[in-house]
Amino acid sequence: MDLLYRPRRLRGSEVLRKMVRETRVDAASLIYPMFVMDGEDRVEEISALPGQYRYTVDRMDEAFARLLSAGVQHVMLFGIPAHKDELGSGAWAEDGAVQRALRRAKEQFPAMHLITDVCMCEYTSHGHCGALCGREVDNDKTLELLSKTALSHVRAGADMVAPSDMMDGRIAAIRRTLDDNGFSGTPIMSYAVKYASSFYGPFREAAGSAPSFGDRKSYQMDYHNRREALKEALLDVDEGADILMVKPAMSYLDLVREVRDATDLPLAVYSVSGEYAMVKAAAANGWIDEDKIVCEMAVSAFRAGADIYISYYAAELARFIREGRIG
Ligand code: PBG
Repeated sequence: MDLLYRPRRLRGSEVLRKMVRETRVDAASLIYPMFVMDGEDRVEEISALPGQYRYTVDRMDEAFARLLSAGVQHVMLFGIPAHKDELGSGAWAEDGAVQRALRRAKEQFPAMHLITDVCMCEYTSHGHCGALCGREVDNDKTLELLSKTALSHVRAGADMVAPSDMMDGRIAAIRRTLDDNGFSGTPIMSYAVKYASSFYGPFREAAGSAPSFGDRKSYQMDYHNRREALKEALLDVDEGADILMVKPAMSYLDLVREVRDATDLPLAVYSVSGEYAMVKAAAANGWIDEDKIVCEMAVSAFRAGADIYISYYAAELARFIREGRIG
């Protein structure tokens, strides 16, 4: 056969495949999402996220030590308060779980890079991501609460804040508050392109943050939309975001590519709780090879244009990279 082009030539051996690989991954780009809660001496497994836990602050050391020894240096903290109220005042409490976890981690684990999720939904009695006005979330009033929360995180030691609420103008509001208080050097990672997604189901069980009425569609994005993703991403660039995020990952990789091509900012992709739960459930039934699926999902996000990957599998991925199974 007279064939000039034989793409298979470059697939002939593992060593050759590795040489011509287009996507390389590095444990330095992995962020592990972690739940810290009020209370003492408790570690609770999250039933919809087998292998994931809620830690009281006095018990989080074991998790931090395990992550660092696995090669994961970034955590994103989510707080679960003992008491919720209408405004979500626990979000900026001096002695909140996230604030205490930050102070402790800064002392005990100086190598850990500490990012915090900034949102109200874990702290409000109604489970919405901001202050209510009737049955609506009041955008501009929520900006004040988010700004206060971000500032309290940074004061407690957060290296970076990540607002996930999807209010309009929150990046500008938080940026101004941090700057006015002497934290102009603290970066903001914006959950810029965040869809109203059923993939967050297990997270809401983990954080007890499901809305008590209605849904989040008046602030999170409609998953039928693509141009709107660019609008959100570019607005956040203008407002001073340092890193953009697309969320969820798996069904949204087209948007990862769009945002990558439209902006120059580092881009994070969040493989959310429902993605983890589906893999775990299928693996528990013996229907898929968990490790290989996890590798394939992560690489697909990087191939789509991600620089940073947020995953409940971060520690396992760091090991797969070290073992040369991906990379
Ligand atoms: C808070 C927040 C959520 C997630 C990250 N930040 C839940 C939501 O928006 O309902 C989801 C993370 C996951 O599912 O793993 N607003």
